[in-house]
Amino acid sequence: MDAVFEATVTAPVNIAVIKYWGKRDAALILPTNSSLSVTLSQDHLRTRTSIRASPAFVTDRLWLNGEEEAVSASKRLVNAITTARSLRAELERRQRQQQQGNVVPLSEWPLHICSENNFPTAAGLASSASGYAALVSALGALFELPQSASELSRVARVGSGSACRSMFGGFVAWQAGAADDGSDSLAVQVAGHQHWPELQALILVVSDQKKKISSTTGMQTTVETSELFAERVRTVVPKRMAAMQRAIADRDFASFAKITMQDSNQFHAVCLDTYPPIAYMNDASRSIADLVHAFNTALGRPAAAYTYDAGPNAVIYALEGDMRDLVELVTYCFPRPEDTTPEAFYPDPFGLLASPACAGQEVAAPKLAELAQSVGRFPAGTVRRIIHTTVGDGPRVLPSSQSLLNPDGLPR
Ligand code: DP6
Repeated sequence: MDAVFEATVTAPVNIAVIKYWGKRDAALILPTNSSLSVTLSQDHLRTRTSIRASPAFVTDRLWLNGEEEAVSASKRLVNAITTARSLRAELERRQRQQQQGNVVPLSEWPLHICSENNFPTAAGLASSASGYAALVSALGALFELPQSASELSRVARVGSGSACRSMFGGFVAWQAGAADDGSDSLAVQVAGHQHWPELQALILVVSDQKKKISSTTGMQTTVETSELFAERVRTVVPKRMAAMQRAIADRDFASFAKITMQDSNQFHAVCLDTYPPIAYMNDASRSIADLVHAFNTALGRPAAAYTYDAGPNAVIYALEGDMRDLVELVTYCFPRPEDTTPEAFYPDPFGLLASPACAGQEVAAPKLAELAQSVGRFPAGTVRRIIHTTVGDGPRVLPSSQSLLNPDGLPR
């Protein structure tokens, strides 16, 4: 049987606590400022991608969540594939120079790429970060590239900026860099995924009818029109990057929480300062932020921290020991939609409640019960579902038995 040249990987989602917003070079995707994120567990959110190279294939083909898409339709996809191929071509040249026998010309063969998320696209969660990180990790594994994860993060970056941070687990900084060619604009790991095992995240998926402005378009308008933004880039972000790295190193949740919320708020403030203004948060998002502040006030310490990206969904970071209180409060104030089962609304993956059906029934802690009474209940379905997850590891290479491609090179 002929050898098969194929790799299958999974890659995680990341949620920034210091936001990337703004490019100084749109073609190379070079940011105006550094950013920092937390990688979330692949048990709950991940992209799986299989890539095969074969001289028998006619052209590059891509299947995304079961639908074929034209590779040539996405300039960013073409850029990422071309960059990875040129790294492979360099390796093949070196192998030939060293007269190593049997150099496989993978850089010249067409690719079949099949990619799937384990979360519904309709959930409104950004999939470009895990998607490009999976693509580039799979190409790295298939091409046996000698480059480090940081070096490969530059390739993920040309697909989507935030994707470079999904090349690592744990806590990850994207260093903005200064070089015009982007050589120093890459991701580095600040701390591994086991550094702060108590840190967890709740994703509150919020109903949204409005067609939102893409991050790509929105951030360029901000760069062009917001005066506040210039101040953010010049003075605020550098200070916060240092303070956030200290908070993570010290596992100092109070500082982590405050900086996370302030940075999310400032990101949404520069969006409103953009002309015409951009509003990503809606009434439900703002009510969740209010509830988090009320939760912290009731407990007398910063116990939870919200952050919002280019959409209305909330991500709330909290420590394991506070999660039960938080889940009880949130599910009481934001009851499950009538057409959704308890298991689909809040699957309770860590067994905090007696059963998922208990979500929204009781707020045990007296101070929080009082708070729940005063806030009351929002209409059922204001929050559509809740994903509870932890900090997670970086891209994983899977065995060929996990491939998404059949022996004929088409999707399973
Ligand atoms: C608000 O990485 O999606 O999530 O580089 O144009 O693909 P492109 O943008 P993208 O922007 C993400 C912006 C953000 C903040 C963040 O993740 O840091």
